[in-house]
Amino acid sequence: MQSEDRQAHWESVYSKKRENEVSWFEENPALSLELIAQVGATAASPIIDIGGGASRLVDNLLQRGFEHVTVLDLSETALESAKARLGRNAGRVHWIVADVTTWQPLQTYEIWHDRAAFHFLTNEDDRMAYVARLRQALRIGGHAIISTFALDGPERCSGLQIMRYGPASLGRTLGREFELVGSRQHVHVTPWRAEQSFQCSVFRHCS
Ligand SMILES: C[S@@+](CC[C@H](N)C(=O)[O-])C[C@H]1O[C@@H](n2cnc3c(N)ncnc32)[C@H](O)[C@@H]1O
Repeated sequence: MQSEDRQAHWESVYSKKRENEVSWFEENPALSLELIAQVGATAASPIIDIGGGASRLVDNLLQRGFEHVTVLDLSETALESAKARLGRNAGRVHWIVADVTTWQPLQTYEIWHDRAAFHFLTNEDDRMAYVARLRQALRIGGHAIISTFALDGPERCSGLQIMRYGPASLGRTLGREFELVGSRQHVHVTPWRAEQSFQCSVFRHCS
């Protein structure tokens, strides 16, 4: 899918549906928060949520005192809805409207979080572009926390074909610079009570 088509798709989704009308809605991003704590992040750790959309992760990070939070997404509408929810606190966040595969990172981060964005990259060139940005933007010693549909998960999300991963296949895709340090299987329950199997892997940027 071309970048413009992708953007049009996501703009249309976020302009037509309310926050809790999308399959990926999570009232409480508990697993992400647990893994962010587990890798030793502190309030001073710069963190970026890739494809963060309208997720409530940002609210929770601010509540925990995180001082350097960035949310990147293709959809301006999604980010505007997160900003509206946060009110004055939106000013404490760095918002980036960009396609991660063409984005030029201007700083580095200790934590790269991605829940259900990477799995939309079904084209090899796009995956390579994503990994190049991950290498550039994640500090050596920093951690990438990447959730995708698992090998036994759905084949589509938001009407689009996705790639399913296990921790090993995700690790092979990211390459040798990223050491797998943990992974969790997770069943996400959609707002209409369907179950979706996710894997959430944690990688350390080792070289
Ligand atoms: C399934 S939603 C997940 C949203 C959020 N991470 C969450 O957990 O609620 C996927 C998100 O990735 C964004 N996205 C998809 N492809 C992207 C890309 N190439 N670059 C940046 N964002 C992208 C979409 O706009 C959407 O907000």
